[in-house]
This record gives sequence, C-alpha cells and structure tokens, in this order.
Amino acid sequence: MNPKQRAAATALAFIESGMVVGLGTGSTSDYFLQALAAALKAGSLSSIRGVPTSLQSERRARELGIPLATLAQCPHPDITIDGCDEIDPQLDLIKGLGGALLREKVIAQNSKRLIIIADTNKRVQTLGSRSPLPVEVTPFGHEIQHAFFSSLGAIPALRHTPEGTVFITDNGNHIYDLRFKQIDDPRKLEAILQMRAGVVECGLFLAIAERALIADDRQVQDLTR
Ligand code: A5P
Repeated sequence: MNPKQRAAATALAFIESGMVVGLGTGSTSDYFLQALAAALKAGSLSSIRGVPTSLQSERRARELGIPLATLAQCPHPDITIDGCDEIDPQLDLIKGLGGALLREKVIAQNSKRLIIIADTNKRVQTLGSRSPLPVEVTPFGHEIQHAFFSSLGAIPALRHTPEGTVFITDNGNHIYDLRFKQIDDPRKLEAILQMRAGVVECGLFLAIAERALIADDRQVQDLTR
C-alpha cells in the first residue's frame, strides 16, 4: 500500500452501516471510494449512501457501485472523507487543486464531521507555502480579478486545461490559482475574498476539519483539532 492508500483504508474505520458519507475528490479520495466499495461488496458495511463532491467522484462512485444521494436528499451527511492540498498544525487546509473546492466546502460545512486523508507531503507549517490557493470566480468579469488578486500580494494564474482552454468547474465557473510566499493571516484573506463580487469561493478550509489521517511509508498519524 502507498501512503495515500493507507490513509484512505484507515478512514474506513470511521464509517458505520447506515451512514450518509460525503465523498471527496482526488486520488486519495479515490482510494477511499475503492475501499468503501470493497467493504460494501464484502458485506462488512451496508446501507451507505454517498454524497459526491464533484462530477468526477459521482462518476467514480457509480462505476464502483456505491449508492448515491444528493445534498438536497441528505442535507447533513454523517461524515465526509476528503483529501487536501495543504494541511497546517491547526488542521486548517488549502483545497481545490482538483477544481472541486466549492462543492467540497458546501458538503464539508454541512457534514457532521470532516476527516481529511493525505500523505505527509501535504503537511506545512504555514498555509500557502507550497500550494497555490485556488479561488473560484464567475466567468463574467473574471479578467478584472487578476489585478485584484495581485493587489493582495499574490501571483495569480487563471487555470487552464492540459489542452490549453480555460478550465471550467462543475459549477460553470473559472479558477484562479493564487501563489503567495505564504499566507500569514488566512482568516483575514478569506474574509477579503468573501467580500469581493465575482469571487464564488476560495480553497481555504479553516476550522472545518475535525481530524486528519496522515500517512507515510510506515504509519498513519491520527491528528485531531
Ligand atoms: C480537490 O479539489 C482537492 O481539494 C483535493 O482534495 C486535492 O487536490 C487532493 O488531491 P490528491 O488526493 O490527488 O492529492
């Protein structure tokens, strides 16, 4: 097992039959989907419903035979298991390199518990020191956001697909990736971004994660806030 797989497998211990489970996005979450599907098949778990955080995880869950529900049907999932792009010692996060930050944040905020699964490479002392901060913006007027993000001290880059077209999220929006040296005050930055018209959501997940399962080649660390 690689570290991502090991973190994902450990998360299965937090799932009980009958639960509604928020299904994260990304390669670590994909390992969790596989582990969950295997447990359903083996009969060690039953009556699970998954609420996917992206069209990608929805497709994948269908392929694997995980029963699905919408947030409208199940507004408060018992637990969400998701990956991250950075995690600091307070379990504050940067998410969204996979492009799913808006749905991930809506589902995380409405879940009773958010458990993060990741490998040790995602650990940082200060958010923004390794990963850019993804920010979802409306297509209308997105060009003018570049100067605004620069005024915050970031180097902004409008996200493109590998084919060179502008990236479009599951919600029909675009993403700017903001490169900072580091984010000294994530709460202040989040508040500034939230006040800006045209900004839909940012990838700062502050004080939302309850627990993180962080794996290396040998062990899984269980961190709580
Ligand atoms: C998706 O939008 C992100 O928030 C993911 O959680 C993140 O990119 C983790 O991806 P990996 O599990 O592939 O590292």
